[in-house]
Amino acid sequence: MSSQPRIPFKHYLHSGYAHPVTRSWQGDTTILKSQLIYPIFVTDQQNTKTEIKSLPGNYQISVDLVVDFLKPLVEKGLKSIILFGVIINAQDKNGHGSLASDDKSPVCLAIRLLKVAFPQLCIACDVCLCAYTHHGHCGVLVSDDEPVIDNEKSVERLAAMSLAFAKAGAHIIAPSDMMDGRIAAIKTILHAEGYGSRVAVMAYSSKFASCFYGPFRDAAGSGAKFGDRSAYQLPAASRQLAKRAAIRDAEEGADFVMVKPAGPYLDIVREVKDAVDVPVCCYQVSGEYAMLYHAAAAGGIDLKQGVLESLICLQRAGCDIFITYFTPLLLDWLPL
Ligand code: PBG
Ligand code: ZN
Repeated sequence: MSSQPRIPFKHYLHSGYAHPVTRSWQGDTTILKSQLIYPIFVTDQQNTKTEIKSLPGNYQISVDLVVDFLKPLVEKGLKSIILFGVIINAQDKNGHGSLASDDKSPVCLAIRLLKVAFPQLCIACDVCLCAYTHHGHCGVLVSDDEPVIDNEKSVERLAAMSLAFAKAGAHIIAPSDMMDGRIAAIKTILHAEGYGSRVAVMAYSSKFASCFYGPFRDAAGSGAKFGDRSAYQLPAASRQLAKRAAIRDAEEGADFVMVKPAGPYLDIVREVKDAVDVPVCCYQVSGEYAMLYHAAAAGGIDLKQGVLESLICLQRAGCDIFITYFTPLLLDWLPL
C-alpha cells in the first residue's frame, strides 16, 4: 500500500487531469488554421525573393512571385494573410509617403493578383506610412528635421491609403500607425466610397513601443531615420492607455482590435478581451519569432512545442486571431 493522504482530498489535483481526455477538459487547446494570419512582405522589385536575415525563413518577395510563393501554403489550408509594402527604391519615398496611397503600389498590385489566384483567401493590409516616408516615421511630420507628428495630416494620408487598398480589393484594413482618430477617419472614407459593409478594419490598438519589432524593421525597411516612436506608441508599463486605446478604437468602429507584441503582454490581452465586444487579435511579432526560433536552433527548446505553447497561452489570455510568422509550420502541425 502506498502512503496515506496527509492533506484534505480537495487539495489533490492530479486526479482531475490524469487521463488525456480529462486533461483536455481543463482548457481549450484547439487552434484552427482559420485563426492564423500570415505576414507577407511585398517589394517594388522584379523576380526577387530575398530571405530576411533577422527573420529566418521569411522573405521580401517581389509582386510577380507572390502567387507562386503562396500556392503551396493555400493548398495546406492558409486562409488569411496580411500584406506589408517594402519600397527598395529609396527615391520613391518622400515626406508624405505618397506611394502608400498609389494604386500601383506593391501592395495594391499584389492584392489584385491574389484575388484572382485565390478567390477564397482573406487579405488584410497593414496601413502605415513608415515604409513609404523617407524619415521612416509612421505619420507625416510637422517639419522635416524634428520627429513631431502632424496628427491630422497623417490621418488624412492613412485614410487615403486605406481607400486605395479597399479599391484594390482588400478585405481588411489594418492601421498600425497609432495616430489618434484614424479608425473613425478610415471608417468614414470606406462608408463614403461604398466599402463600409464589406471591408473590415482591424485596429492595432494596444500597440507598445517595443524592441521586439527589430527584425520587422529590417524586413520592411521602415526604421525611423531619427528619433523614435515613443510619441505615438504606448509605454510598455501602461495598462490604462492600452485599455483606453482598445475601447476607443472599438467605439470608433473597429471590427477587430489588436494587442502587439503578444507574449510579453498577456495581461493586456486579457484586459482588452474583457473590455471590448469585438474579437481580439494578437500579433506575435518579429522579435518573438526570433526568440523562439533561435532558442530552438540553439537546442534550448523544442520548436513545435514552444510555438504551440506560446499560442495556447495567448488563447487562454483571450486571443481570437493570431498573426504569426510561424504560420507555414503551423499549417503542417495543426489538424484543422
Ligand atoms: C509598422 C509596423 C511595425 C510592425 C507592424 N507594423 C513596426 C513598427 O511599428 O515599428 C511590427 C511587426 C513585427 O515586429 O513583426 N508600423
Ligand atoms: Zn509604421
